Amino acid sequence: MHAARNGFEFYKQIQADDGHWAGAYGGPLFLIPGLVIGMYVMGISLRPEQKIEMIRYLLRKRRKEGGWGLHTAAPPTTFGTVMNYVSLRILGLSPDMPVMAETRAWIHKMDIPLGYLYGRKFKGPLTPLVEAIRSEIYIQPYDTIDFSQHRNNIHPVDIYNPHHPILDVLNSVLATYEHCAFPPLRRKGLEAAYKLVVYEDENTGYQTVGPVSKMLNMVCRFAEEGAESEAFQQHLGKIDDFLWMSEEGLMMTGTNGSQLWDIAFISQALVETGLAEEEANQTSCLKALDWLDKAQIRDDPKWYNEAYRHRSKGAWPFSTPEQSYTVSDCAGEGMKAVLALQSLSYTPKAVVEQRLKDCADLLLTMQNPNGGFASYELVRGSCKLEWLNTAEVFGDIMIEYTYPDRTLRKAIQYVHNVQKPDGSWHGSWGICFTYATMFALESLSLAGETYNNSASVRKACEFLVKHQMEDGGWGETYMASLLHL
Ligand SMILES: *[C@@H]1O[C@H](CO)[C@@H](O)[C@H](O)[C@H]1NC(C)=O
Ligand SMILES: *[C@@H]1O[C@H](CO)[C@@H](O)[C@H](O)[C@H]1NC(C)=O
Ligand SMILES: *[C@@H]1O[C@H](CO)[C@@H](O)[C@H](O)[C@H]1NC(C)=O
Repeated sequence: MHAARNGFEFYKQIQADDGHWAGAYGGPLFLIPGLVIGMYVMGISLRPEQKIEMIRYLLRKRRKEGGWGLHTAAPPTTFGTVMNYVSLRILGLSPDMPVMAETRAWIHKMDIPLGYLYGRKFKGPLTPLVEAIRSEIYIQPYDTIDFSQHRNNIHPVDIYNPHHPILDVLNSVLATYEHCAFPPLRRKGLEAAYKLVVYEDENTGYQTVGPVSKMLNMVCRFAEEGAESEAFQQHLGKIDDFLWMSEEGLMMTGTNGSQLWDIAFISQALVETGLAEEEANQTSCLKALDWLDKAQIRDDPKWYNEAYRHRSKGAWPFSTPEQSYTVSDCAGEGMKAVLALQSLSYTPKAVVEQRLKDCADLLLTMQNPNGGFASYELVRGSCKLEWLNTAEVFGDIMIEYTYPDRTLRKAIQYVHNVQKPDGSWHGSWGICFTYATMFALESLSLAGETYNNSASVRKACEFLVKHQMEDGGWGETYMASLLHL
């Protein structure tokens, strides 16, 4: 109880006026390049203070080996390093700076062929800066490189998810077809693709499913409709939603924050610990409930049929409702938080029963024939589609995968088996000991294991108490994770 009270002492300092708790949602190192290169291609400049803070962030995140990886805790790859080198050049660093020369040396050591954006052959202006960068990152003159010969030529450090041989063959076939593409067919293909881009923009309030596609969609809209168009202006207006000023500089985040995800757990904890009932905390809980009330997605996306989207009416989102994607666990946690807060004596029951039913109905539509739930939609295809996964840096992305729910006893056994000697669990996404421990403990408590009757839970609680910081919060850093290893 003392720890919980301490924890809330920390949170109460940082609750935003509208009731949510804001937090950095960073980590990936391939987001800033999309923004910086995309803006450059479209001839738009970032503000000087944004440039300075992004430079600071990227230099802070550069690894001592000489480059950048896919995320802040990963060793450098040629992809991450080249993309961030180009970003820094566009942001204004001179190629003569020692840090840039060192990075270049690292790149040349890797002898890279670069992947490239394809499609409608839209090109940004060939400026002196672009020509300079070309001569800096390639070891042979740019015009002498036949890029189509290099589609399957990836440096081993970059290939997290190796190509399937079918993809290699397909790449060669498509490279050949490119020389004799049938114009009417190409036109039809481009039209169909552009329509999907427009649907996605309009369904998500110009945020799209994530920051990588956001910048690609924005460049598409610029190429097709120009800088004066309504669509392009809408896109431009949403850029700041993806930026977060951290103590290490300005970063681009994975979505417009993780608002719902954070508020849902904080609210549940406040109710479970009894802190929510204490007079002094009631305003804070009322604000949180108000935020949750406004955050529920009330309708399906406008183009939900046309854009092959799963329905979203009734869901709680991962960040804010405007983006409109259903995520099964966010919907579940959002509903749990509302139920918890609305069970308090003093809260208004603003989220009426019908709205809770909408959420339950939605969750039921997300269960797959095998009993499991995935994240954004039902499993819609065969896992053989992974053979066509071109991403190289991500595996298991072509279809949805379900997470176990039927084999409850086996799952609990698994949770026990993977507990670490210090009482914690290791999360598979990033470095997440306290985070994974939270979910593991929730599972164990659902199976009836508590501090009173389970040695494993006791050990985990001791782990959490031991790692609470002086200000009352819990954190997680890469250095902290090394202490665990
Ligand atoms: C992004 O998040 C902030 C903070 O929660 C919110 O004020 C803003 O409206 C959000 N933007 C969008 C486009 O959802
Ligand atoms: C919540 O209540 C506790 C105990 O009364 C108090 O220490 C704490 O400051 C309160 N939190 C807020 C946000 O007022
Ligand atoms: C745990 O055990 C203590 C002492 O035996 C008891 O007072 C407490 O109510 C128990 N808590 C739970 C959640 O069972």
